[in-house]
Amino acid sequence: MAFVQSLLSIVSLASVVAGTVFQTSVFTADADSPFNGQVVNAAGGAFYLGLPKPGTFCPDPTQCPGGTTTLFAGMNALWVEVPGGQQVYVAESGAISFTIAHSLLPPDVAQGAFTNTTVVSDCAAPFNVFNWKSSEASGTGGILVCPVNLPGTTTASHQIYAKSPSFSWTNCTEVIGLLPLVTSSQDFGAFEYA
Ligand SMILES: *[C@@H]1O[C@H](CO)[C@@H](O)[C@H](O)[C@H]1NC(C)=O
Ligand SMILES: *[C@@H]1O[C@H](CO)[C@@H](O)[C@H](O)[C@H]1NC(C)=O
Repeated sequence: MAFVQSLLSIVSLASVVAGTVFQTSVFTADADSPFNGQVVNAAGGAFYLGLPKPGTFCPDPTQCPGGTTTLFAGMNALWVEVPGGQQVYVAESGAISFTIAHSLLPPDVAQGAFTNTTVVSDCAAPFNVFNWKSSEASGTGGILVCPVNLPGTTTASHQIYAKSPSFSWTNCTEVIGLLPLVTSSQDFGAFEYA
């Protein structure tokens, strides 16, 4: 059984390496929106616009990969070297979040899933963005950018939220989704995001 599990994890890692490592940026309906095209960076357990680079931790500065971009491995994990990896989830509040290294998902995650959705328009070839949908029968869904002040930085302007059933902010802007900018590089985005 242990053998089957480890084989499965190798298979899924291989398929991630084959093509779903990506940075994300915000995609809005209005191309003139100031949020459109802004890159999403990980810091302090959540995701922000306005940061020049992600928050990272590196145990040995001579040996760590990257650290300048926020790379996802699919929408449910970050592309990190730290053993055990780091998972992406939606907190009950709706905050799109990531686990600190060596820890499990918290119990209060908003059950749901990121969706890879095709956008069709008159003036461009179809392309795909990520959105989020609650698994509850009421079925809230959506991705929003919300104004915040991140302690310790003056540049983080907005935080990324999913419209979880208990999401309650009223000062946010709903966007079409997160646009993946797929990379062919197999290098990790960071040893660990922090
Ligand atoms: C999203 O879905 C499309 C169509 O199935 C697929 O081609 C694309 O690779 C997916 N995007 C990512 C980043 O997984
Ligand atoms: C936006 O709303 C949230 C929740 O009510 C609040 O905590 C935050 O301070 C507000 N941000 C701004 C910039 O008004």
